[in-house]
Amino acid sequence: HRILVLNGPNLGRLGSREPDVYGSADLESLRSALAEDAERAARGSGDSAPVSIDLRQTDDEAELIHWLHEAVDTRTPVILNPAAFTHYSYGLRDAAAQLHTADIPLVEVHISNPHARERFRHTSVISGVATGVIAGFGFDSYRLALHYLLTR
Ligand code: DQA
Repeated sequence: HRILVLNGPNLGRLGSREPDVYGSADLESLRSALAEDAERAARGSGDSAPVSIDLRQTDDEAELIHWLHEAVDTRTPVILNPAAFTHYSYGLRDAAAQLHTADIPLVEVHISNPHARERFRHTSVISGVATGVIAGFGFDSYRLALHYLLTR
C-alpha cells in the first residue's frame, strides 16, 4: 500500500524559496510529517503496516507525466502539487485525466492559496480532472489530502 506525493518545478527549493509565501520548511520535513501521519493512522486503525509515502520532486514536465503514467499502471493514489505547471501544462492535465478515467484518486494541493495571488495563478488546468483541490494551508494542504486518502 503506497501513496505517491508528487511535486513539480521549484518545490525542491522549499525552505529557501520565497519563505514569506511558502514557509521555511523543506521537502524532507514534509516527507517525515506525512510518514508520521501515516504511522499514526495505521496504529489508530490497528493496521500492521502503515501506508508508505513515496514523495518525489522534479523540475521536468516529462518526468512528472511519466510518474502519473506509473500511478495509472499501478493504481496508486496521488497527491499532486503541480506548482507552476498547474497553470499551463495541458500535457500534465492529459496525464491526470487518465487517473480520473481509471477512478484512481488524485488530490491537487497547493501550499499557498493561488486565488489570493497573481491573476495567472487563478487558472488551474488540472483541477477539472482532480478528485479535489486543497490550497492555502501550507504543508497542512498535503496532510489534509493524506487524511482524505487514508480514510476514504
Ligand atoms: C504552488 C502555487 C503555484 O502557483 C506556484 O507556481 C508554485 C507553488 C503552491 O504550492 O502554492 O510553485 O503550487
